[in-house]
Amino acid sequence: MIHWLTQTLTEVPADDYLTDVELARLQELKTDKRRTDWLLGRWTAKRLLQTVLWEKDGVTLPLDMITITNNPDGVPDYRLPITDNRFSISISHAHGRAFVAAVEKAHAPIGADMELNRPRPAGFAEEYFTLAEIALGYGLVGPERAVWETAVWSAKEAVLKALHLGLSVDTRAISCLVEPVAPPPGIWTPFAIRCDSGRLPRPAPPLTGWWRVEDGFVMTIATG
Ligand SMILES: CC(C)(COP(=O)(O)OP(=O)(O)OC[C@H]1O[C@@H](n2cnc3c(N)ncnc32)[C@H](O)[C@@H]1OP(=O)(O)O)[C@@H](O)C(=O)NCCC(=O)NCCS
Repeated sequence: MIHWLTQTLTEVPADDYLTDVELARLQELKTDKRRTDWLLGRWTAKRLLQTVLWEKDGVTLPLDMITITNNPDGVPDYRLPITDNRFSISISHAHGRAFVAAVEKAHAPIGADMELNRPRPAGFAEEYFTLAEIALGYGLVGPERAVWETAVWSAKEAVLKALHLGLSVDTRAISCLVEPVAPPPGIWTPFAIRCDSGRLPRPAPPLTGWWRVEDGFVMTIATG
């Protein structure tokens, strides 16, 4: 089962939700934007885990007892006062909004991404998308093209997060077969994912994708 939550900057309190480990990490962040995005991501991830743990165990864990960590590659994880690795999480932030997804499986591939729905420059799809993706968007123009290109781009980022690779590989190593629909889906809608193993540093597990549009943002999830 996939759990998810979005939060905006206005929902983040001034303090009292970070652990000592997180406060130390905050001091290391260089720019105001990075600090703001990072705090919004921590807040959203903690709120999601707190809610899911309450639903599962009937326990409300204070937010300052949940530590959100990143491994050296940036992949997010969490720590609780007791050993608990039931969940795998992924974080995205954009334009004062954060989106976090959690799947109930330890060390599972999961990637969440959120992008502002906006038109992309001419030639964007030809530069970053595979032929299979381009074929699906053939003939789309205007707002329908914008949302479809935003969805395919976001889906690629979600897959590359699920594979713990980020944008370190060619975006054409992944095909996210997002079917254009009008109006854009307001509920989670599946899309197929194909990975070109020959262009990835390690074999990819089978993944399924989901996308939806909310408040002008495209959100995507990729998981195995
Ligand atoms: C991962 C990446 C695709 C994120 O995309 P983005 O649109 O810039 O940012 P988003 O807000 O959607 O996602 C950021 C989150 O992705 C997660 N993330 C970062 N690297 C990740 C990775 N390799 N795998 C999975 N998740 C990752 C983090 O949780 C991060 O948020 P946090 O730092 O607050 O915890 C992109 O930053 C990337 O490719 N990074 C790796 C390559 C790179 O440029 N490295 C530079 C090292 S200095």
